Amino acid sequence: MANVTVIGAQWGDEGKGKLVDWLSNRADVVVRFQGGHNAGHTLVVGNQVYKLSLLPSGVVQGKLSVIGNGVVVDPWHLLSEIEKLGGQGVAIGPDLLVVADNACLILPLHKDLDQAREAAATQKIGTTGRGIGPAYEDKVGRRAIRVADLADREALEAKIDRLMAHHGPLRRGLGLPDIDGAALLAELEAVAPKILPFAKPAWLLLDELVKAGKRVLFEGAQGALLDVDHGTYPFVTSSNTVAGQAAAGSGLGPKGPGYVLGIVKAYTTRVGEGPFPTELDDEVGQHLGTVGKEVGTVTGRNRRCGWFDAVLVRQSVALNGISGIALTKLDVLDGLASLKICTGYKLGDQAFTYLPAGLKAQSGLAPVYEEMAGWSETTQGARSWRDLPANAVKYVRRIEELIGAPVALLGTSPQRADMIVVRDPFQD
Ligand code: GDP
Ligand code: IMO
Ligand code: MG
Repeated sequence: MANVTVIGAQWGDEGKGKLVDWLSNRADVVVRFQGGHNAGHTLVVGNQVYKLSLLPSGVVQGKLSVIGNGVVVDPWHLLSEIEKLGGQGVAIGPDLLVVADNACLILPLHKDLDQAREAAATQKIGTTGRGIGPAYEDKVGRRAIRVADLADREALEAKIDRLMAHHGPLRRGLGLPDIDGAALLAELEAVAPKILPFAKPAWLLLDELVKAGKRVLFEGAQGALLDVDHGTYPFVTSSNTVAGQAAAGSGLGPKGPGYVLGIVKAYTTRVGEGPFPTELDDEVGQHLGTVGKEVGTVTGRNRRCGWFDAVLVRQSVALNGISGIALTKLDVLDGLASLKICTGYKLGDQAFTYLPAGLKAQSGLAPVYEEMAGWSETTQGARSWRDLPANAVKYVRRIEELIGAPVALLGTSPQRADMIVVRDPFQD
């Protein structure tokens, strides 16, 4: 396939960054198409660790990188991330990075609102507090400031007025101070000359690249269970995270996404609030968290951990049109005597083979498990099937069977090269 789309098939943090980094030397351009700097993608190359939130992970390998129109862009954060990467030896200029001129901005007032709502809520979402939800609200409310507006003082003035009219009452209700419109205008005018050199019609660039036979790698953020339509609503993020969004969020159209590579962790984690049927509150859950180093990149919160949920991933395979998966963090299961896989749910006497949509139903589901023997050998750093114990192979095969998708790649450590390659998604 000419193009590959990498998406999270669970609740995020499946290892998308590592996979995008690994795949990016086969691609000509890497594109983010949704979310914002709520993402935290960690790449480990030798003793260097790169943590990216807004920049496409391809920048580390020097690939042309595009922040598509579907992304919400905090311009101050973008500059600080560019500077941070610069400090790690990755120089990022307009030759390497393109920001869609029709992407919407995250402003300080979005972050204020996100944090104030979370602080006031009795039922919190557990957001990253970075203003993602409020920025998308203003986008669909047709009030947002877009990247191209940074070049147009009149547009900025009119939009700031419009934003103040909308946000004023919301802020007062939450006890926040009124917006200083003049100060916001000054801040935007100060940041504009640093952002505008990156601003281009990204859809046009991508169209030209594809017509020239170039290969596009789409980098999803979050995961299917955090999708605003398909996830555990309202405990979700505010964008569509599924593979179909790669088309709309880049402007490349429905032929764009190509091979859909679902990234799947060999167990389950979630950060933030919301239902999690296979969550473990015992020592096994703690063990997974410690061995898997399950701490959120963006907020430093401990990730909740649980057994592999085949029901959720099977649903994800359907929702995303997944062609194959990259199964990550198999090594974290080393040493566990036995492993459980969730194959269905019970809600009272009712059996479910999918995640029902109702909030009450989602929070009341009891997992139905099947149990498999674990392995005592290490799989860490394995790069071939021959290096895996027989029970690890059985576990992987059972997952493939239950979710209805083949394993294309299998991760066995955080390091870029520690991977078993069954098939190269760009060759498929
Ligand atoms: P992303 O948000 O999907 O990119 O995932 P994160 O980077 O937030 O979290 C995944 C974490 O697991 C990172 O710290 C990675 O370095 C690490 N990781 C990725 N693949 C593997 C793997 O196969 N084994 C182990 N042990 N760690 C991995
Ligand atoms: P990556 O790309 C895991 C979660 C937050 C919260 C919910 C809404 O690293 O996989 P938001 O700030 O988006 O409004 O928060 O979504 N969340 C993530 N969880 N990985 C992520 O990104 C996430 N991005 C958002 O914890 O529950
Ligand atoms: Mg992450």
